[in-house]
Amino acid sequence: MINQIKVNLANRSYPIIITDDNFEALAKKLSQLKLGTDAVIITNSRIRRLYAEELRKALNSLKISAHIFNVPDSEKSKSISEYVKIISKISSIDTKKRLFLIALGGGVVGDLTGFMAATYKRGIPYIQIPTTLLAQVDSAIGGKTALDLPSGKNLVGAFCQPKLVYSNINLIKSLPPRQIRCGLAEVVKYGIIVDTKLFRYIEKNYKKILGLDNSCLGYIIKASSLIKAKIVENDERETSGLRTILNFGHTIGHALETAAGYSKLNHGEAISIGMVCSAEIAHLMGVLPREELLRIIKLLNTLKLPQEAKKGDLKAVLNAFLRDKKFINGRVRMVLPSRIGHVFVTENIPYNLIKKVIKKRMAKT
Ligand SMILES: NC(=O)c1ccc[n+]([C@@H]2O[C@H](COP(=O)([O-])OP(=O)(O)OC[C@H]3O[C@@H](n4cnc5c(N)ncnc54)[C@H](O)[C@@H]3O)[C@@H](O)[C@H]2O)c1
Ligand SMILES: [Zn+2]
Repeated sequence: MINQIKVNLANRSYPIIITDDNFEALAKKLSQLKLGTDAVIITNSRIRRLYAEELRKALNSLKISAHIFNVPDSEKSKSISEYVKIISKISSIDTKKRLFLIALGGGVVGDLTGFMAATYKRGIPYIQIPTTLLAQVDSAIGGKTALDLPSGKNLVGAFCQPKLVYSNINLIKSLPPRQIRCGLAEVVKYGIIVDTKLFRYIEKNYKKILGLDNSCLGYIIKASSLIKAKIVENDERETSGLRTILNFGHTIGHALETAAGYSKLNHGEAISIGMVCSAEIAHLMGVLPREELLRIIKLLNTLKLPQEAKKGDLKAVLNAFLRDKKFINGRVRMVLPSRIGHVFVTENIPYNLIKKVIKKRMAKT
């Protein structure tokens, strides 16, 4: 199986390859792209053990030498200190070489590598080899790169498009089920924001999807990549407002992640709770019918995605929420659904309503 999607962005255009091959399509594309003579692979030790050798072989067959740098396996890698550490290593090997970077990993490795590519020598090429479902359907596409600060997620970053996204379905087969579910949260998000058909597809095929059936995974990865690519093509730098709809579930989700110290809740789990809260707010405001709210809750439930955060510090969540960069001119900007397949961006949400819903969804122990 091989599908290719193009992200059309003038001279920053690039292909997304969706495949289940053994790195052949990657080698073929790299030989056309001629990105450099030396690849620096950024990964972590777990992913390195699984896939780095195969990747190194593919690169060596093209006479590209490969350096491999590990980062710790956690969101903490998206930090200024890790950035300085790795970028210093890159500069120490960079003598008269044509370097390019390869992000071999999930969203954490992808965001960090992308930011290094954006800033090292004012920009060098990089490619994304996403190894989580979440990264294949979302974070590897679109050129948002980021580091976290203790005060909030993704507060340091740059837009920098990769030269290629190589999404190999076989690479996600080694993921623990919890990580598959986290990726599915982003796929459900696409269904709610623009694609009723995709939402229905997950409702119908969830068993095969959770069983990692290749054709089902291929379908949802392709559908998601197409949606993300289209949105990015039309609003690359989130200036027209279109790209904002990708933040559905994320304003509250990020606040939960930040308040939990980025560790207890995975990103997909946090946005699952964020999506339920947003849908509930929309329902209480009278814009989302009850049956649509229940359908969203039911699907997340079927996928065993959480809809409630553990009892915790509500004040910390609200503080993180208010500090979020989507809080504009003192007003909360949120994406709310009006039905499955359609959302709108609004700043007219009573803060008390948001508080009430978050409080309710943090009530369980
Ligand atoms: N740039 C964007 O547009 C964007 C969009 C969405 C999310 N993000 C970011 O992505 C990050 C989350 O990404 P993630 O969910 O991929 O998390 P992650 O990168 O932390 O990966 C999750 C876990 O899976 C492990 N793993 C990765 N690939 C594996 C494999 N093939 N087999 C076994 N284990 C594997 C990792 O080592 C890690 O422990 C967050 O930092 C989030 O902010 C960025
Ligand atoms: Zn996300």
